[in-house]
Amino acid sequence: MKLWGGRFSGRRDPLFERFSESFSLDQRLVAYDLRVNRAYVQELAQARVLKPSEARRLVRGLDGLDRRVARNPHWARGQAAEDVHTWVEAQLTRIVGDVAGKLRTGRSRNDLVATETHLYVKDVARDLQRALAELLRALLALAQRHARIVLPGYTHLQPAQPILFGHYLLAYYEMFMRDVGRLEDCRHRADELPMGAGALAGTTFPIDRRRLARELGFARVASNSLDVTSDRDFVAELLFACTLVMLHLSRWAEDLIIYSSPGFGYVELADAYATGSSLMPQKKNPDSLELIRGKAASILGRLTGFLALLKGLPLAYDRDLQEDKGALFASADTVREALILAARVAHTLRISPERMEAMTHQGFLTATDLADELVRRGVPFAEAHEQVGKLVRHCAESSRTFTDLVDGEARKFVPLWDRRLRAVAVSPERATARRNVAGGTAPAQVARQIALAERALAALERRLAR
Ligand code: ARG
Repeated sequence: MKLWGGRFSGRRDPLFERFSESFSLDQRLVAYDLRVNRAYVQELAQARVLKPSEARRLVRGLDGLDRRVARNPHWARGQAAEDVHTWVEAQLTRIVGDVAGKLRTGRSRNDLVATETHLYVKDVARDLQRALAELLRALLALAQRHARIVLPGYTHLQPAQPILFGHYLLAYYEMFMRDVGRLEDCRHRADELPMGAGALAGTTFPIDRRRLARELGFARVASNSLDVTSDRDFVAELLFACTLVMLHLSRWAEDLIIYSSPGFGYVELADAYATGSSLMPQKKNPDSLELIRGKAASILGRLTGFLALLKGLPLAYDRDLQEDKGALFASADTVREALILAARVAHTLRISPERMEAMTHQGFLTATDLADELVRRGVPFAEAHEQVGKLVRHCAESSRTFTDLVDGEARKFVPLWDRRLRAVAVSPERATARRNVAGGTAPAQVARQIALAERALAALERRLAR
């Protein structure tokens, strides 16, 4: 079945038929297609374009299809059709006969597919927010359980200053909370109705677009028919939000890959999320995290491919836009799975406080604190920096830490060296407590951040449960 046969006498090349079909992908939208069509038929009846009896038959037919799809979501799989809209009309014709031909009065697949894609993006943004909430819950649970373990904080992956493990975890909490907000923005942008735009210029039938928008749960009616039939900015935004989620996941995965290597040994993955080697019996590899990192690359690629698709398209609809579905579905599926997997990895992660704490005595993590202490005694920071730098070089050359220093030796580099400075040098915990600034790593600050995070996450969970 074709929706556009009249103009043509020759047949399409079967290769081109296959090349241009989208049903294998967009059949996922079948429930949306039925829902939009049902609301639209009712609107046509209100506008007296359809007789009440015709509208009733069409709605009954669409409802029947809807029940069949609900019973068997894979019903359409393997069937041939140009796209989901063609398939639905063909099925409807089989059930209600010729009156099905009235279904597409005053509408086009251009405003139809745009409407369904808007609905899909709104739903999938919600789903992704739910998956993010699961991960946020897992990270926060870890933070609550292990808030006060001290570990090295890194810059350039070189030991920098001691931080609390709770503080470290909350950094990812912040990233993923921003992702939740970004998806909320996506939902907001997608929350407008294309139907009524027709193929490009609007419709000659007196459709009440506001009523139709309400019926389909849209907040607004799209303002320009040319724009809305060819606009996929909202898809690009969702793909961008997906890409940032994956970049955040990928950074987190990378951290854990490093931290689970025996040289660090801060964490150990549960067996359920690691794999072995076919050759080396001792291996336990963090493949779950590596694949999250790897799939981030594909998601980023889909975003750039999609942006390239939009570039230079003349107004209004162009068939190129059909390529949106592949990127959209695949990205959303992958990101949702990656988030749920990450949440499970986090929930089952074994933490090794001893390893973290042991490593805080290497790498001269308290060097900044020594310099700061000298500043408090009136030494200019530049001079303090120089003195402590020389002390560090001396220790490093003889493979020692601050703990191994004797006072006389330290005094050669830091003339004001005394018991207090020694205490500063050998206590990474106290170094964290000193960073008692809003957003800093001091235990009091981290406890406050955890309490705030708990409140925000609980509110989000309540909102998502509605
Ligand atoms: N399958 C098409 C898509 O996803 C539906 C719109 C087709 N419109 C057209 N004028 N050929 O974009």
